[in-house]
Amino acid sequence: MIELSVENLHLDYGANPVLKGVSMQLQRGEVVSLLGPSGSGKTTLLRAIAGLEAAKKGRIVMNDRVLFDNETRAEVPAELRELGIVFQSYALWPHKTVAENIAYPLKLRKIKKAEQQTRVQDILNQLGLGKLGLRYPHELSGGQQQRVAIGRALVYNPPVLLLDEPLSNLDAKLREEARAFLRELILRLGLSAIMVTHDQNEAMAISDRILLLNNGKIEQQGTPQEMYGSPHSLFCAEFMGSNNILQGTVSEISNGQAVVQGQGWELRGRAGEGLQQGQNASAIIRVEQVKLGTSSSENSVQLPLLTSMYLGEKWEYLFRAHGANAQDAFVVRAYGMQERVPGQCHLELPAEHVWVFPS
Ligand SMILES: Nc1ncnc2c1ncn2[C@@H]1O[C@H](COP(=O)(O)OP(=O)(O)O)[C@@H](O)[C@H]1O
Ligand SMILES: [Mg+2]
Repeated sequence: MIELSVENLHLDYGANPVLKGVSMQLQRGEVVSLLGPSGSGKTTLLRAIAGLEAAKKGRIVMNDRVLFDNETRAEVPAELRELGIVFQSYALWPHKTVAENIAYPLKLRKIKKAEQQTRVQDILNQLGLGKLGLRYPHELSGGQQQRVAIGRALVYNPPVLLLDEPLSNLDAKLREEARAFLRELILRLGLSAIMVTHDQNEAMAISDRILLLNNGKIEQQGTPQEMYGSPHSLFCAEFMGSNNILQGTVSEISNGQAVVQGQGWELRGRAGEGLQQGQNASAIIRVEQVKLGTSSSENSVQLPLLTSMYLGEKWEYLFRAHGANAQDAFVVRAYGMQERVPGQCHLELPAEHVWVFPS
């Protein structure tokens, strides 16, 4: 069942078009991430859904209730949209206690004092903040403040939760814990949520579906597995993982496969849409798909190992091809379980893991 749908949404800031025809749907019980580089329009889309920015064109519908439609000039004000919003900055009131912060949406809705207290305490317990109701925001850690912001968004049971980079103010270790907490909370409470993030790992871990935004348009959408495993463009392939990219020229295309040639190498891979023979192209492969071999085979390149870097759970190897000209130089990275001494290596780049896109 569709909880929220956005149809062909356009939004300008002054003369600057920021959303250029975005359409998306959120199913009930689903978590969708809006992913994309800084400035791609993620926050703007979230704010337009919330009613905090005025769109120019398009429609936003929640459960058959039209929130915005430029044709019928319908526009429900933000405070009547019944959406729970968690801002990137948390936006807690510094002079209100944790309990008062969380109670605020209930107070606005004129819920009775006694019920306010019960619901606030219930949320505090859900969020693992049971004993902190009387503290002020500055007496909390960053992770606790973030939970209070989530609590305030959840307290009146909105059908849809909107979160703008909810984890970006936390340090790396805490962010991983908070990510698991948030995923579990959303599932436990059966919420539908739209979460903005610029971090592809976070998007994959938390969401059922990802919308990748590129300059105000949806580049691709799908499950985390589809986005990571079957990108339709170089932009999506690059954004979703750690990659090696080799620039060359397409020498052959047949049966959905392309052969790309560069100075001293030739690779076969899946041909991206619109690819043509003779075109400049990028062959791209995830770092973890590169295998170290002992002899040359199809789709292998021979390169000198420059250095091994210890990453804790694995090693990362760096290979560099010097090439006759500066533009022929490139770097290939691979992972392995032990340190390696510098020297020539055969690297296998299996054709089923190489994508070829126009560049
Ligand atoms: N209030 C504003 N006034 C004018 N331009 C804005 C405003 N907010 C954002 N922008 C511009 O809109 C674009 C998209 O911004 P935003 O949605 O915040 O991106 P993201 O959240 O993906 O980083 C950027 O180019 C940004 O500079
Ligand atoms: Mg943003």
